[in-house]
Amino acid sequence: MKEDMTIIEHAVRLLQSGELVAFPTETVYGLGADASNPAAVARLYAAKGRPTNHPVIVHLADSNQLSKWASSVPFEAIQLAEKFWPGPLTLILPKADHVLDEITGGQKSVGLRVPAHPLALELLKAFGGGIIAPSANKFGRLSPTRAEDVRAEFKDEVSLVLDGGPCAVGIESTIVDLSREQPMILRPGMIDQARIEAVIGKVLFAHKQAEPSSVTRAPGDLASHYAPSTPLKLVSAEDLQQIVSGKAEDLNRTAVLSLSVAPGCCNWIVAETDPEIFARDLYQNLRQLDGLKLDRILVETPPVDPHWEGIWDRLRRASAKL
Ligand code: TXA
Ligand code: MG
Repeated sequence: MKEDMTIIEHAVRLLQSGELVAFPTETVYGLGADASNPAAVARLYAAKGRPTNHPVIVHLADSNQLSKWASSVPFEAIQLAEKFWPGPLTLILPKADHVLDEITGGQKSVGLRVPAHPLALELLKAFGGGIIAPSANKFGRLSPTRAEDVRAEFKDEVSLVLDGGPCAVGIESTIVDLSREQPMILRPGMIDQARIEAVIGKVLFAHKQAEPSSVTRAPGDLASHYAPSTPLKLVSAEDLQQIVSGKAEDLNRTAVLSLSVAPGCCNWIVAETDPEIFARDLYQNLRQLDGLKLDRILVETPPVDPHWEGIWDRLRRASAKL
């Protein structure tokens, strides 16, 4: 980096020359590449170890760019963008002709999002174009919520990691597909179904649909997505209490993330009961417990409540291995 350059100018140069730049968003850190450069896209998929049919989200500086990337912009998209952007929401729209097939997994639609982190917005404004940014983790692993998580996972595969501190939202954006007949939530997040419906009316929820084909293109439907290396199991408060009081022999080899149950051993984190804070800390907590390299991680099931729908989704996926 030249001495008179700002870090953002440096990041823009790197992106322009087809390199990868990780940056913070309000949800999780993204691994960024120029959305219009096929070589950069290929490099990104290779670094992540991501199957080529798995589409990525194009990040934009503001919603005025929507019509550049989508062949048509339905009224619902404008309403949702006005209400939630910049913010943790991704819209799936019919793609414009120039959008590379490599970033849509060959589909006719494209994922678009204006993130809320000031550093992300500064980068996007300075770059001008779209930046594809999957979560900055190897495929199937936990998403990173701190710059050091990204550095540890990618080492020198990534040219630059912009450090914007810990992410405030903590789990990935809510994805709403507006490219089909009826709007559908493909991935729940901290903007829940009720808040989406308050703006555009009834939406379908992919994971509640009977028809399995409706979820094949939804994110993370592969088993064990967003997963720590240690097998993770969801257990009710009652079962967890029993495990603790029963003093099971393997408690020393068990890590626990609880909500209401008090610590019964040393490898234990008691999480915050506010869903916003629980989500913010979730991946960091799982990373910490995973780092203990024990035999299993038990997570106390959260409340069944609309505010927890994104968290439930991530926990179910993380536990899919067992
Ligand atoms: O919060 C987020 O969305 C983060 C930050 C970095 O912005 N990004 C993120 O990207 O979670 P990624 O690639 O880890 O997850 C994006 C998901 C993919 O699983 C993909 O299936 C879905 O978005 N997706 C992207 N384009 C799509 C499309 N055209 N149709 C259906 N799903 C799509
Ligand atoms: Mg991801």
